[in-house]
Amino acid sequence: MEYKHIFDYAREVDTILIVNGGENAIDKNFFYLTQVKSGVFEGSMLIVKPTEIKILTSILEEQAAKETGLEVLAIHKKKEIEKILQSELKNVDVVGLNYEAITLSDYTELSKMIPDKRFVDVSVSIQEARRIKTPGELSKLREAAKIASESFEAVIGRIKEGMKETELASELVYQMLRHGASEPSFSSIIAFGSNSSLPHYSPGDRKLKKNDYVLMDFGALYERYCSDVTRTLVFGKASEEQKEIYSVVKEAQENSMNAIRANINGKDVDKIARDIIDSTKYKDTFIHSLGHGLGMNVHDHPALSPGFDLPLKENMVVTVEPGIYVPGFGGVRIEDDVIVKKDGFEKITTATRDLIEIS
Ligand code: GLY
Ligand code: MN
Ligand code: MN
Repeated sequence: MEYKHIFDYAREVDTILIVNGGENAIDKNFFYLTQVKSGVFEGSMLIVKPTEIKILTSILEEQAAKETGLEVLAIHKKKEIEKILQSELKNVDVVGLNYEAITLSDYTELSKMIPDKRFVDVSVSIQEARRIKTPGELSKLREAAKIASESFEAVIGRIKEGMKETELASELVYQMLRHGASEPSFSSIIAFGSNSSLPHYSPGDRKLKKNDYVLMDFGALYERYCSDVTRTLVFGKASEEQKEIYSVVKEAQENSMNAIRANINGKDVDKIARDIIDSTKYKDTFIHSLGHGLGMNVHDHPALSPGFDLPLKENMVVTVEPGIYVPGFGGVRIEDDVIVKKDGFEKITTATRDLIEIS
C-alpha cells in the first residue's frame, strides 16, 4: 500500500498511532494502511511515519502481520507495549490519533504510557486520503461489485411464491460466498410488498405473494472492500403504478449517474435525481441521500447529498441510489456503484436495471 499520501492530508504531524481496539472498536485504518489479508488484530497498533509503518501485535497475529512485508513488533505480554511505545516515539512530541475510532479507555491508557506526548486528531485527514482510491483498491472494489452482480443474477431463478424474506436473504448470502465474497458487506435488506417502503428494513418472516415488489439491497466483501447494490423487481406482472414508480426511479438514477465526472459537485448530482422525482406525483418521497462513498466501509466518504458541498475527484468510488417510498404500498430503489473518472464514470455493478417481472 502506498500510504505516504496520508501525510499530505495530515500535515500537522509526522507520526500517527493507529490503535485497533476490541470487537466494538475496530479501526478500519489499521487494515487500510497495512492491507493485511487475514486476521482481526484486536488490541494491535500501527506506528506510522512517512518512511515506514511498524505493526505492534500479539504473537497470535504475528504470522499474518509478517505477510504484509511491514516490520512487526510481536508482543508477548501486554506490559511490553509501554516500553516499545516509549522507545519508538522517543523523538516525537506530537502524535496523530484517529479520534473517530479510539475508545476513551484506550486513550486514557495511552496517555498514561506516553504522558509526554501531545495528541492531535487526524481522523478527518485520513478520511480525506481514503476518499481517493489507489489502483489496488479499485481492483478489489471492482471484484466486490462483480460478485454482488453475479450473485443477484444467480438468485433470481430461486425466488418462489411463499418463501420468506429471510430465506431469500440466505440464498443471496450463499451465492455471494460461492462467488468469492469473504462475507456480506452488511446485513442484506430484503423486503417484500409494502415492506419495501422502509429504506433500512430488516428481513423478517413475511411470505412472498403474487404481485409483490421484491427489494434486495445487499453487498459483498472482497479482501475487506465493499460493494452495495439494490435491485427491485416484481413477483408477477407489474401493475401500472408499480411500473410508473420504477420508471421514475430508473430515469432519476440514469440521469444523475450520467452527470458524474471529476469536478462536478456531489450535491448537484443529488439534485438531478431529486428534481426528476420531485417533478412527478411522487414529490418528497425520495427520503435519503442519492449516494455515498464506498471503500472499506459501506458508508464511506464522501456523500452525494443536498448538504454535502464537495466536488468529486477522479478515483472516488460512490453509490448512486435514488428511491421512491410510498408507505403502505411499497418502494423502489435502484443502486449501482461507480468509479469517478476525469471525464465520466465507470459503472462497476452490472446487474440489469430493466424491470424484471417474475411470472
Ligand atoms: N445498504 C444501505 C445503503 O444502500 O446505503
Ligand atoms: Mn445499499
Ligand atoms: Mn448504499
